[in-house]
Amino acid sequence: MKRVEDKLKKGKRLSKLDAPKTLKNDEKIMNEEDFIVSKTDTKGFITYCNRIFVNMAGWSRQELIGANHNIIRHPDMPKIAFKIAWDLISSKQEFFGFVKNLRKDGGYYWVLAYITADEDVNGNIIGYTSFRKKPSRKAIETLTPIYKALVDAEKGGGMNASYELLKKTLNATDENIVNKYHELVFTLQKG
Ligand SMILES: Cc1cc2nc3c(=O)[nH]c(=O)nc-3n(C[C@H](O)[C@H](O)[C@H](O)COP(=O)(O)O)c2cc1C
Repeated sequence: MKRVEDKLKKGKRLSKLDAPKTLKNDEKIMNEEDFIVSKTDTKGFITYCNRIFVNMAGWSRQELIGANHNIIRHPDMPKIAFKIAWDLISSKQEFFGFVKNLRKDGGYYWVLAYITADEDVNGNIIGYTSFRKKPSRKAIETLTPIYKALVDAEKGGGMNASYELLKKTLNATDENIVNKYHELVFTLQKG
């Protein structure tokens, strides 16, 4: 992690390039009553994170503030999930989704994430806020193979392929794919 210290000394922003390359099959499970909170600027650089975020991600607050939020991006997450999230939040709509996150030690933790835009009095987007709670086990078990298939599709055919696969999986159309995705999220969280 010498590279990380050097980067921070130079005032550079950390990102997924600084994240661990060796993954561990070690899950840290959220407490039932906890919320993980973070805020970003309009480009997705972290401006605030709560103590539980620091604890779950394993990076210090000093490392996280200013870092690109993709510092905790797990390679098991399909790109299409983040595309849906950004398309929604940048048009002032809310995103709900299950996300597998990467810890600094190479382990991981699952969350049910809610992300929304922060608007000023004139309705301009000035940043984004996310709250996460503990996901149901059923959601994790159901989504693990689906996310794997989406990641595999992306390896072969990029995000077009994973978008088509997601549409098929959800039995959705271009018009209702977001609603169907959110419906699945809420159904899975009920367990
Ligand atoms: C407020 C906010 C919270 C976010 N939380 C996460 C998160 O917990 N995990 C994650 O992987 N990406 C999160 N993202 C999405 C990242 O900005 C990024 O799109 C994602 O990690 C994929 O990065 P990449 O496209 O550079 O691979 C969040 C974005 C915003 C605006």
